[in-house]
Amino acid sequence: MRKKTLRDLAARDGDRIVVRVDFNVPLLDGRVMDDTRVEHTLPTLRRLTATGARLVLLSHLGRPGGRPRPELSLRPVAARLGELLGEDVRFSPRTAGPETLARARALAPGEILVAENTRFLEGETGNDAELAATFAALGDHFVNDAFGTAHRAHASTAGLALAMRARGGEAVAGLLLEREIRVLGEALDSPGRPFVAVLGGAKVSDKIAVIEKMLARADRVLVGGAMANTFFRALGLETGRSLVDEEGVDLAARLMDRAGDRLMLPVDCVVAPRIDAVTTTREVPRAEVGAEDRIGDIGSASRRLFAGELEQARTIVWNGPVGVSEMPPFAAGTAAVARSVAVATASGALTIAGGGDSAAAVRAAGLADAFTHVSTGGGASLAFLAGKTLPGVEALSDA
Ligand code: 3PG
Repeated sequence: MRKKTLRDLAARDGDRIVVRVDFNVPLLDGRVMDDTRVEHTLPTLRRLTATGARLVLLSHLGRPGGRPRPELSLRPVAARLGELLGEDVRFSPRTAGPETLARARALAPGEILVAENTRFLEGETGNDAELAATFAALGDHFVNDAFGTAHRAHASTAGLALAMRARGGEAVAGLLLEREIRVLGEALDSPGRPFVAVLGGAKVSDKIAVIEKMLARADRVLVGGAMANTFFRALGLETGRSLVDEEGVDLAARLMDRAGDRLMLPVDCVVAPRIDAVTTTREVPRAEVGAEDRIGDIGSASRRLFAGELEQARTIVWNGPVGVSEMPPFAAGTAAVARSVAVATASGALTIAGGGDSAAAVRAAGLADAFTHVSTGGGASLAFLAGKTLPGVEALSDA
């Protein structure tokens, strides 16, 4: 990594460290429904507290739009962090300013304070320099471990890194951020071959940069999800009442021309009159989708076809489910892809699931441990895989 990491941080005993984490987790009635992102920050937090550092944690949660929204408070997430660490974690109902500073100063070595949602403040998403300086004033150094937010240039990410450096402190990558960049970077820069990419999700136009990057690097690009419908339309096939990204049809045609047989589409589909959890489904070859059908998943022949590519791959990058995986009638295709990737991992391939939905599908299939890496980033992993610069990383101190 070209940037300083936790290993380069020459913190003194008792230093206060501001740590940006991505605790943007799903909440239901004040309970954390999936604590994966919280759990993945533990190695960084433990490493720091073990040296006697005092930690002030900043994160956003949801998109409150620059004003307090009680249902998006980080308080329950701070409580969950305390349970995972088996220690008391303090909470500041204010994000920055004198009250939070006083609480930060009162921390004993090894103690952790979680400040309230950064997006309750107006200047956060606009990367306000004054707000970034207020965040920097909370500590002596800055550790960014929020890979999931690294594609945002916000006051508590890129702005805070620059403000901390301007005060003479270090701004370094935490262990999670470092691992994400290392593993995703290895897949892009020196992949073992065959290198197979699986791309799903809804819109071709949203993922165009990733598709192009993958077509340039991978030996095969397997396309599934609603995105495949847009390619079907470009082939002149009937897609019935399925979701099609109309604006992406011409683009899909051009991509197919350019990619030849490196781009592989499903050959059959699971269709239904409705996409819901109780509908009746049929499997049909892709040329036999009816005018009233909705495509919800890849069919069994496609699963076998994809398995053949995936199970002999040496590198796999997967972004986006290949069907409506959150609904049981359309979940089998995504689960089959997850199992094939697990087979490849077991035979030594580097396998990565990136993107919020594919990561959730992998966990739902109970296969998270069967991947080399399940990224904590949704938009961030997409941006990285598309070859974009991540402002949250760029602003850190150079190694
Ligand atoms: C995510 O969940 O992808 C990150 O936390 C970023 O959230 P955002 O898209 O609201 O900036």
